Amino acid sequence: MKNKIKELFSEIKAETIIIRNYSNFSDPNFFYFTQLYREKYENNFLLLRKNKKALIICSALEGAGIPFSKNYLVRIAKSRKEFEKILKKEVKGKIIGLNLDLTPVNSLKKLKKLFKRKKFIDVSLVLQKTRAVKTEKEIKKIRQACEITEKTFSKIKKLFKVGMTELELATALEFQAKKFGAEDLAFPLIVASGKNSAVPHHNTSDKKIRKNELILIDFGIKYKGYCSDLTRIFFTGKTPVKLDKLYSQVLEAKTLAEKELGQGKDYAKAFEKADYFLQKNLKQKLMHDIGHGLGLEVHDFPKKNFGKKMPLKAGMVLTIEPGYYNKKIGGIRIEDDYLITKKGFRKLSNAPKKIAEIL
Ligand code: GLY
Ligand code: MN
Repeated sequence: MKNKIKELFSEIKAETIIIRNYSNFSDPNFFYFTQLYREKYENNFLLLRKNKKALIICSALEGAGIPFSKNYLVRIAKSRKEFEKILKKEVKGKIIGLNLDLTPVNSLKKLKKLFKRKKFIDVSLVLQKTRAVKTEKEIKKIRQACEITEKTFSKIKKLFKVGMTELELATALEFQAKKFGAEDLAFPLIVASGKNSAVPHHNTSDKKIRKNELILIDFGIKYKGYCSDLTRIFFTGKTPVKLDKLYSQVLEAKTLAEKELGQGKDYAKAFEKADYFLQKNLKQKLMHDIGHGLGLEVHDFPKKNFGKKMPLKAGMVLTIEPGYYNKKIGGIRIEDDYLITKKGFRKLSNAPKKIAEIL
């Protein structure tokens, strides 16, 4: 972690970075640099400082639960005034780095008032990039998250009953995943049946799932803080030949995109290859990005790329998820997770070659 902090400060002019958790959301960087579980420690500050140990500033409520670590110091503040006093004393340098992606405007205003003479810079992208290349330990956790998700999918035949709603199936899957060791969902589980599957980010609903329907399930869990993100297609009956064909074409688009993965290669090319194939064979442009980075967040760096040049580095973890959507037929998206390596990639999950029939 020390090296990561050093690398971070070599890229920016700030001497201190202020990271903060809030009551209703946490900054993944807090967890990344402290290894303290991200869902707790609300309203705590983490100061990353150039050539100095990181410092956690927290209330007494949280302080008692923070274990000793050689990676950080801990100061407990008993009041808001004390928080401010410690911040004033411990923030070093003239420039302060902030993760502006996750800083509410009101908090920024308060910080600006507290540090009238200092300059603030946005370090959100540098932080994301620092987290993008994963260590072996992190990769193991993502791999485990993928394994739990795949194991849960393998139980779907047992969990599914004709007439159950999308929400009921989603709940059954979540419960099963937790039995297998998932600590949480990585994002609200998408169960989209029949025509609902034509909406890429369908809100899982109380629609009943019938016989002979297609089901698209986009499902990711968290394991020790790290996310998986897989999309699989099922059919509640014998799959029509037309759907089988569509599935193999989307799978082909995915295979073409995979060929563009590897150290030094360009993620944008993966988008282009899949997009070209889908346009040529299914007369449809890729409606969303080809994928996104994966880590402590389900949409981690690189993200929101939409075909922009994005050189890949060994150690990055990302998804490939081409999809075809048709209001009459439904939607087919297939999503797997990949580790970028020097020679290419390692699959962390593996979509089946055919639509799985669950009745
Ligand atoms: N699996 C949800 C998403 O990638 O947007
Ligand atoms: Mn995804």
